[in-house]
Amino acid sequence: MTISRFAADLPRVDQFVTLGEGDTPVVELPAIAGRLGLRRLSAKLETQNPTGSYKDRVAAMSLSLARQQRKRGWIASSSGNAGLAMAAYGTRSGLPGFLCLVATAPLEKSIPLQPYAVAVIGVDGVGDGATSRELTGLMDEIRDAAERHGLYLGITAHAMNHDGMRGVDTIGYELTEQVPTASHVFVPAGGGGLLVALARGLRQREHDAHVVACQPSGCAPVVRFLDGGVPIPVIAHCDSLVSGLQVPSPPDGPMAVEAVERSQGWGTMTSDDEILAAQRLLATVEGIFVEPAAATTLAALVRDVESGRVDRHAHPVLILSGAGWKDLGRFGAAAGKLPIVTFSDVAPQVDMWATGLDSSDRHLAGRHQ
Ligand SMILES: Cc1ncc(COP(=O)(O)O)c(C=O)c1O
Repeated sequence: MTISRFAADLPRVDQFVTLGEGDTPVVELPAIAGRLGLRRLSAKLETQNPTGSYKDRVAAMSLSLARQQRKRGWIASSSGNAGLAMAAYGTRSGLPGFLCLVATAPLEKSIPLQPYAVAVIGVDGVGDGATSRELTGLMDEIRDAAERHGLYLGITAHAMNHDGMRGVDTIGYELTEQVPTASHVFVPAGGGGLLVALARGLRQREHDAHVVACQPSGCAPVVRFLDGGVPIPVIAHCDSLVSGLQVPSPPDGPMAVEAVERSQGWGTMTSDDEILAAQRLLATVEGIFVEPAAATTLAALVRDVESGRVDRHAHPVLILSGAGWKDLGRFGAAAGKLPIVTFSDVAPQVDMWATGLDSSDRHLAGRHQ
């Protein structure tokens, strides 16, 4: 199944461009639920989309619309995930594309672009340390270029690409079917578009979960606004290393605020360190490896459970928006230090490891209680 199964609720196109996006699984996180004292905790694995992030839903809708509207090609800016999605779906659609990639994007986000037939440039000043002036300037340039050349504007924000973003409403539709008991949906917010579309999808299906905006404290314009710390959901500059969430002036910030308030949700921000700890926890106790942007949801939930905002009878759902392989830098050093042995040393290594198994079995059993 693909997002086209919701065609009746999406912008009309004669034919969907698809690579099998959507219908991502929801899994339980019993070990983390146990640690937090929650009865239930679930996660929606947007990591399972064809290029590893929820952006495939936007790309599928955008390229379907681009073809419907007989555009000459497409143009987009991206921190990496949207770019890869647009490159894959752009190629699939047969339309040529031009991508402005954040110059500091992790290599794991730029290398996979290489096989595709897409023009890519790196743009300085719009990642860590980005100012709202540079970000807004880049978006304006891209919008003008799209008009000049008859290109589909594939930026993944409602303010720029409203109809394309409707593809993301399908996360809300699917959640309504998969987790009718969800009490809270924890969503990472960068530009704010994911949150806005997901909340709209839930509302459209009359699901009343509270939507929680999750941001790194070094770049949390939406959360700061919700907490009354800034007069508009914009901050001067970004000070976080979380790729995908380095957006000091979110184009969909006001819409995201409205969506959160309407659902009677809130915003929670956490440090980059808390986010990386949450990323590790998901991998080590649940076997789910996500990129830091996705792990902001767990970091925020941990905070909210500790502060009593979420109680043990709740059933939160985390939106795990992007796969772990997209940002591997911090694991490189450990990978370079693998013990290298000859075959005759394998048996003693295994024996040594096995000696410790009994105690780690007990440890694991404890985790799942
Ligand atoms: C993995 C991941 N999660 C979340 C987001 C945030 O989405 P939005 O910019 O729509 O708020 C992004 C944006 O690039 C992302 O790549």
